[in-house]
Amino acid sequence: MAGGKATILVVDDEVNNRNVMVAQLASEGYELLTAASGEEALELIDRHLPDLILLDVMMPGISGFDVAEILKSEERTAGVPIIMLTALGDSDSRLTALNNGAEEFLTKPVARAELQARIHNLLKLKKCQDRLADQVVSRTNALESANQQVSELRDQLLHSEKLAAIGQLAAGVAHEINNPVGFVNANLGTLKGYVKDILRMMRAYESACCESARDPQVDARLMQLRTELELDYLCDDAPLLIEESLEGLARVCRIVQDLKCFAHVDPNEQWVLADLHECLDSTLNIATNEIKYKAVVVKEYGAIPEVECIPSQINQVFLNILVNAAQAMPENAQGTITVRTRREGETVCIEIADTGCGIEPSALPRIFDPFYTTKPVGKGTGLGLSLSYGIVQRHGGRIEVDSESGRGTTFRIMLPAVRLDIRNEAAAESAVESSAA
Ligand SMILES: Nc1ncnc2c1ncn2[C@@H]1O[C@H](COP(=O)(O)OP(=O)(O)OP(=O)(O)O)[C@@H](O)[C@H]1O
Ligand SMILES: [Mg+2]
Repeated sequence: MAGGKATILVVDDEVNNRNVMVAQLASEGYELLTAASGEEALELIDRHLPDLILLDVMMPGISGFDVAEILKSEERTAGVPIIMLTALGDSDSRLTALNNGAEEFLTKPVARAELQARIHNLLKLKKCQDRLADQVVSRTNALESANQQVSELRDQLLHSEKLAAIGQLAAGVAHEINNPVGFVNANLGTLKGYVKDILRMMRAYESACCESARDPQVDARLMQLRTELELDYLCDDAPLLIEESLEGLARVCRIVQDLKCFAHVDPNEQWVLADLHECLDSTLNIATNEIKYKAVVVKEYGAIPEVECIPSQINQVFLNILVNAAQAMPENAQGTITVRTRREGETVCIEIADTGCGIEPSALPRIFDPFYTTKPVGKGTGLGLSLSYGIVQRHGGRIEVDSESGRGTTFRIMLPAVRLDIRNEAAAESAVESSAA
């Protein structure tokens, strides 16, 4: 119907009755369908849903009562209004018709004006019902999508709250570790020098012993002690142990540095306008050793504006993602890392795509969690991506990931070209100016 002509189905086994009804209703501007039995009516309704049904009660085969009952029991047809027409004017028949779901019951012969008025009212009511049903559907959809948004926002909030809490913890831990690591590092450096000197002194004693007059007993005792203490091995191993300890400490220092950066405790870093292509190139240079045996790098740089950012932090993000990409390459096979840039309105998009092992769908929600790693102990701390997430978030941007297990991964970093708080301040100022004007 919806603004057009309403369609009325006339169901009557008497051809004359049908013809009279059709002539009358056609002259009133309705579209018409006809059926000579209950069965035919049900078949027709299956293919074409009318807006209203005029239904005779007494028909061979299934009666009008049964047709009404069937139609009202099905969701698709329940809303179509039915007017029952019959020569049976008794109150039982009337009651059965209404109980079976008919909206109206008229006794033949029906006055033309009355039928016209009833049809008009029922169609008006149906229009209102249809509109209400449409509204319910569209409001339900709107509610569902609002609900979805709320649940996404809640997840984001939980994630950033978790990151903030871990950030505070990390800052505390980094601070506590920093001091002892500092003096152990300094002490080990000094010790390295001492051991070198002691070993030098020992060698001098040794050659002095060889040159001077020898007491065979002392010689024998010294020899025995030398064997007992495994002096040769000890002299070789002591500098190696110190070297290894210094390397270990350097790694602890890097983790502490990462934790500090994660917690954003370095106040000296400056916001500047930076050319991200330069940042990417210098980071690719730094990561050359990690990348060159595992992948070729393809650059697809687009035209992008300078971006207001803290370049050392953004470089850290690029480095983490590039190193992850290189580490995702299968053994003994060269992959490809594609670095793309483009502008999307006020946003600059940097894409780093690899042809590596990809990430299992079940692991995807966890990769930004601090300390989540699938790498062997000593190879990954699991802080790279959580650090990167925090940095990009503080820059008012976001990171997206697409990954297909076994095929590769694409990280997309979206950064606003202009610092958001500055843009908001500028907008507020111009609003104040225009209101003052
Ligand atoms: N490009 C990638 N391809 C496949 N898996 C990846 C990729 N990038 C990240 N991952 C997965 O996400 C995990 C977390 O990465 P993240 O950089 O945070 O830590 P990590 O690389 O394990 O350690 P590190 O602290 O040294 O960076 C990785 O261990 C790996 O499982
Ligand atoms: Mg990493």
